[in-house]
Amino acid sequence: MAKLASGRVNAKSSELLDLFNASLPFDKKLYKEDIQGSIAHAAMLFAQGILNEKEYQSIESGLKKIEAEIQEGDFDFVIEDEDIHMAIEKKLTEMIGESGKKLHTARSRNDQVALDFRLYVQKNTQVLKDLLIALEQELLTVASYHTETMLPGMTHLQHAQPINFAYHLLAYVSMFKRDIERFESSYERNNISPIGCAALAGTPHHTDRFFIAEKLGFKEPSVNCLDTVSDRDFALEILFNIATLMTHISRLAEELVLWSSSEFGFVSLSDAYSTSSSIMPQKKNPDVPELLRGKTGRVYGNLIALFTVLKGLPLAYNKDMQEDKEGVFDSVETAKISLEILREAVKTMTVNVERMEEACKVGHLSATDLADYLVQKAGMAFRDAYKITGATVIAAEKSGVDLSEMPLEELKAADSRIEEDVLTFLNLRNSMNARNSYGGTATASTIGQLEYYIGWIKGLS
Ligand code: ARG
Repeated sequence: MAKLASGRVNAKSSELLDLFNASLPFDKKLYKEDIQGSIAHAAMLFAQGILNEKEYQSIESGLKKIEAEIQEGDFDFVIEDEDIHMAIEKKLTEMIGESGKKLHTARSRNDQVALDFRLYVQKNTQVLKDLLIALEQELLTVASYHTETMLPGMTHLQHAQPINFAYHLLAYVSMFKRDIERFESSYERNNISPIGCAALAGTPHHTDRFFIAEKLGFKEPSVNCLDTVSDRDFALEILFNIATLMTHISRLAEELVLWSSSEFGFVSLSDAYSTSSSIMPQKKNPDVPELLRGKTGRVYGNLIALFTVLKGLPLAYNKDMQEDKEGVFDSVETAKISLEILREAVKTMTVNVERMEEACKVGHLSATDLADYLVQKAGMAFRDAYKITGATVIAAEKSGVDLSEMPLEELKAADSRIEEDVLTFLNLRNSMNARNSYGGTATASTIGQLEYYIGWIKGLS
């Protein structure tokens, strides 16, 4: 069959042009959205008296048949059809004849692609949100076992102050909560129907854009058609949201890599989510978190690529915009599998409580507590207390003990105002539990945070 739309251009297009021009190899992924949009469009044309009932019914059943064929892998995609919109419309016309040719009344591929792509983005925004919720639930479960498990909290990757493992995990819960909220607000903002804008200027047909918007589950139709057919902000938003999400994932992934090393030994990843070396039989490699870290690069690339495509485009649709889809598909698939596998890795890892607690005895984690003690006990200025503490730490290093285990006599030698009660302050668990300010790491405070996030999750679903 001849090309469906060969209006102005007569010569048979070259194979090279077809290959270069076509989006079909990748936009066939949008077949469900395309059919959903076409059925809604046909229903509107029927409601407005532009199609009669028979025409509408044959369009609807033809489209459903095509959907089933594509799903079963029985649909013959040919590159000359250029894109999924043309491929489906051509097939429909072959199947049902004249009525098929009426489907494209009052629309253009410009609003059609804007619709299909937006439906895809909206649907996957929900999917990613649900996967994020599942990850949050897993993190909360692991956290609930570890509100008393101490590990060295770090700054600059140096031991700083003792914190508990639940508190550490809740920092990620907090990041992913923002991600969920970003997906939610993007969904709301972009819940606007582009269909019916036609090529750029609207249509002379008596259409009802409100009818079709409602039928497709959108809040309302867009207000300005010229903007609508060239707006890809919804695509930029999902790319940005995924880029931010992957930034968070890559940070947790990096910690898993560190924690599962022999140097840290804080966690061991399940064998099911680790790989072995092809030459060194003793090795267990953290490929999963490493790949999570690595895949972050491509989703950043996808965001920058689309920004670059859209920059400086004159109104309205330009073919450049066909380059909008592959990066989004890639980022969405990358984020989906990353969220799933990260959840499994977290769920199946073993937390080595003893190693974490042992590590707290390295690096004088209660040094700040000694300074605070001197301030509180002796009314010393913090800077003076800081100096004395520094000297005490040097003394501890010399005798090869951690400050938390320094004999009382040696502590007293550092400053005459130090008394026996200092030992309570230098005790690591007391040091952690002393940080009971709102949002702090004390076990009591952490439990409060845990309850906060559990309540928030419950409120979502
Ligand atoms: N395949 C095109 C795309 O993905 C669909 C829109 C084409 N519109 C046009 N006027 N050529 O952007």
